[in-house]
Amino acid sequence: MSVDRVQPKLIIHGGAGSSLKGKGGVAVVRKSLYRVIDDVYAMLLAGASAQAAVIRGCQMLEDDPRFNAGTGSVLQSDGQIRMSAALMDGTQQRFSGVINVSRVQNPINLALALQTAHDRVLSDYGATELLRELELPAYDPLTEIRLQEWIQERQGNFSKEMAGVVAEQELVEETAGRGTIGVVVLDSQGHIAVATSTGGKGFERIGRVSDSAMPAGNYATPRAAVSCTGIGEDIIDECLAARIVVRVEDGLPLHAAFERSFRESHLHQRDLGAIGLDATGAIAWGKTSQVLLAAYHNGENVGDTLEWDDETLVGCVPGSQA
Ligand code: GLY
Repeated sequence: MSVDRVQPKLIIHGGAGSSLKGKGGVAVVRKSLYRVIDDVYAMLLAGASAQAAVIRGCQMLEDDPRFNAGTGSVLQSDGQIRMSAALMDGTQQRFSGVINVSRVQNPINLALALQTAHDRVLSDYGATELLRELELPAYDPLTEIRLQEWIQERQGNFSKEMAGVVAEQELVEETAGRGTIGVVVLDSQGHIAVATSTGGKGFERIGRVSDSAMPAGNYATPRAAVSCTGIGEDIIDECLAARIVVRVEDGLPLHAAFERSFRESHLHQRDLGAIGLDATGAIAWGKTSQVLLAAYHNGENVGDTLEWDDETLVGCVPGSQA
C-alpha cells in the first residue's frame, strides 16, 4: 500500500452484554464512545501511527469509569482488582501484554513498554516488577459502584457469572457482564494495530486468566486486526481474534471472515463480540451476545452498534482501498 494515501479507519468497543435500553444507557455510552472516536480520529488525521492511536484510545477508555478496564474495573472473588491488557502491532506482527496486574492507572502502558522487550508477556509478579522499573505511580482503580456491586454479589455468594458491563449506578442491575475495551486502527500509512484491556469477568477465582492478553482476544497482522469482548473462556475456545485474522490472511474478505467465525461461535453457543478492520479499509463487528458497545469512524461518518439488537450476527462497512 502506498505511503500517505490511506484514509484512516477506527473502531472501538466498550464491551458486550445485555440490553442498555430503557434507562438512558444508550445515550450515556454513546457519549463516552464518541469522545474517544473524536479524539483518536483527529490524531490519525494529524498523522499519528496506528500504534500511538490505539494506545491513546485505550488509555481514554481505561480512564472512563463506566467501562470495565483501568478505572472502574470489576473486582475478583477476593475483592481485589487484577487487570489485563495487550497490544499487537500488525506491521511488526508483534504481541505484548500484561496479565492480572494491580495498582496501575493504564495497564495498556505496560503492554506498550513490553513491545520492544525480549520477554513480551508478563503476569502478576513480573508485571508488578515492571511497574516499579518504569516508576509508574501506584494507582487505585476502584470505584464506589464496583465496590457496591461486589458487596451485593458477595451476599449471593457470587452466583452471577460476570459483573456488569457498564458501571453506571442505574445501569449495573441492567447490564449483565462481559465488559472489556478495545481499539483497532488503520493509519494513514496503511499500518494496522489493535489494543485490548479488561478488568476480567468479575467475581472470578484468583489467578483466572482473561482472553484479552492472548492472541485469542487481541490479534493483528499487516492485513487485519481484531479485538474481542465477552466471556473470556468462550473467546479462548474459539480463538476468535486469531481465527478471524488468519481467515483474512488466507484470502477471505473481512466481512466473510467475521460471518463464518460468528456462525461457528453461534453454533457453539458462545457469548462474545468482536470488532475489526483490514488493510482495504473495511470495518466489521459481530456479536452473539445481546448488544455490542462499539463505535467507528469510517473516514466519512461516525456510527455505532448500540441499538443493533436484531438477530444478525455481523455488520460491516466495506473498504475501498483494496
Ligand atoms: N473478555 C474479558 C474476560 O473474560 O476476561
